[in-house]
Amino acid sequence: MQIRPMQEGDLHSAERTSAATFLEAEELNRRIVEPEVQPRSAEASALWIDRMRLFLTVDPGGCWVAEDNVGEIAGFAISQNRDRIWYLATYGVLPGRQGQGVGKGLMNAALAHAGDRQGIFISSVHPGATRRYRLAGFSLHSQVRMTGTVDRSVLAAVTGLDEGGTGDFDWMDRLDTDLRGAGHGPDHAFMLATLRLIVSRSDAGRGYAYVDDRGHVALLAAAHEETARALLWEALASSREEAFVPSITTVNEWAMDVGLAAGLDIVQEGYVAVRDMEAPGPYLASGHFL
Ligand SMILES: CC(C)(COP(=O)(O)OP(=O)(O)OC[C@H]1O[C@@H](n2cnc3c(N)ncnc32)[C@H](O)[C@@H]1OP(=O)(O)O)[C@@H](O)C(=O)NCCC(=O)NCCS
Repeated sequence: MQIRPMQEGDLHSAERTSAATFLEAEELNRRIVEPEVQPRSAEASALWIDRMRLFLTVDPGGCWVAEDNVGEIAGFAISQNRDRIWYLATYGVLPGRQGQGVGKGLMNAALAHAGDRQGIFISSVHPGATRRYRLAGFSLHSQVRMTGTVDRSVLAAVTGLDEGGTGDFDWMDRLDTDLRGAGHGPDHAFMLATLRLIVSRSDAGRGYAYVDDRGHVALLAAAHEETARALLWEALASSREEAFVPSITTVNEWAMDVGLAAGLDIVQEGYVAVRDMEAPGPYLASGHFL
């Protein structure tokens, strides 16, 4: 098994490895009350490849794969440096290859790229993963997600929000820097291409949220909790069928309070892992761009 930098030609093989790895991981972690896990859709596979291509373009030194002796990609650790911050976008080893040191080699390569930057990522509950992260000096902050059907009778009119665009990226990056040590930089344009951007441009309380076409929050950042609450209410108002609010740590109990008021349930889910920084708030981290 060879640990080496990822290249453009690895994208399709790495995507198949990622789809198989996370399908099994999600099946193992599925609660009995939850629906069967579905294989990744063709659309999600294409988006995965586009996202990895962005990472390879912006910061190739953070993208590592493990290649077996027949040229298949058996694992990957895709991380990025953005100014003072390092984030781990995705990390996995094929089920049949786990527990043999492949993940450790990949993580060592990604962490060497991080240097002494502060770090952040979303961790699964996998015992091998959490062991690796703590040994690498990360603090594991428990997080919950909220799901359910929004009680439309409690939705209040939210004011002071607008649709965002590229002209908002400068102040959004400054807000990101205040909250997590670095702006999202080129990641904003990628998110804006596929997600709705809601912003609060008021000097009294700037903030933004990316929301998908089901109303699921992909990322939320705000200067104050009041703005964060307004953004989340707006996202929930646009939700169709099952609502979804990810990555809520205890510093973000404002999001739990909004979710509970909207009739959603709390589900325990993994950790926000951070090194040399606090778990950010008011902030709901993106699983892919942190
Ligand atoms: C997490 C993952 C990438 C680790 O890769 P791996 O190749 O299995 O890991 P390694 O064999 O290198 O083991 C890493 C460490 O975890 C330990 N470990 C591995 N599997 C373990 C298990 N099932 N239980 C307890 N410890 C385990 C190893 O002993 C090793 O510890 P060490 O560094 O002190 O020697 C891989 O298991 C995986 O893809 N899991 C499913 C997807 C997932 O959870 N990804 C992480 C998302 S944040």
